[in-house]
Amino acid sequence: MQVIILEDPEQVAQHASQWVLELIAKKAKPVLGLATGSTPINLYKKLVKSHQEDQIDFSHVTSFNLDEYHNIDADNAQSYRSFMKENLFDEINIDQKNTYLPTCYQNENPRRQGLAFEEKIQHAGGIDLQILGIGANGHIGFNEPSSSLSSRTRLKTLTQQTLKDNSRLFKADEYQPTMAMTMGISTILDARYVLLMATGKNKAKAVNEMITGALSAKCPASALQLHEHAIVVLDKAAASELTHQEYYIWADKEHQKINQTYGFFL
Ligand code: PGA
Repeated sequence: MQVIILEDPEQVAQHASQWVLELIAKKAKPVLGLATGSTPINLYKKLVKSHQEDQIDFSHVTSFNLDEYHNIDADNAQSYRSFMKENLFDEINIDQKNTYLPTCYQNENPRRQGLAFEEKIQHAGGIDLQILGIGANGHIGFNEPSSSLSSRTRLKTLTQQTLKDNSRLFKADEYQPTMAMTMGISTILDARYVLLMATGKNKAKAVNEMITGALSAKCPASALQLHEHAIVVLDKAAASELTHQEYYIWADKEHQKINQTYGFFL
């Protein structure tokens, strides 16, 4: 894993945006894996700014989101489609026909829907760069602790902790779904590069588990230890429980030199 420790959430977003911008500048048909949640919002703001102020073109980009609530209409304000439209899609020139979320409605077979989503990813040529956040319980996407490390896109029941963590986003009278379709851990590991962002003290324990803990379904993000190109971008608070911090800071200086000369991607 390449662990990058930066000062604050602003720098984390800035760094992540450089990866995305290099990918879309280099590739004719880049495929991005996207995430919802509070953490990537600053990254999306940077991408919107790059489009509005520097005329960065997103018309050739295809995207796949990690997850979507079960049986929620796209135009429901709580759907992840709405989140993506508000924070990114409606603000850049991506062709929204090429933006995919793993939907599943009441009368649809979740297994078929999961398979169809996986096939769409393959048809697009696979995900080049998957953006990730991490839950305080170590989840990635909605792969909660105990998720199979070989899982693929499927319907998951959310844990009480995740429901509690996300309840802040729902009004008192609003229905909060308890199930979601999510890319599996294997689906995520298939991406050519994964970039996980974490900010804030409440992520520090999960971050340390992910990087230095055992590879275990107890911390689904620990599966990234198996990935050839996993980049973890942290602010100081999220890195605060990490052992060997000085090593990562020192190693990153060397990586920066390589990146400046050759770019981020192979
Ligand atoms: P957050 O969620 O960015 O809202 O903290 C991250 C996650 O649960 O994956």
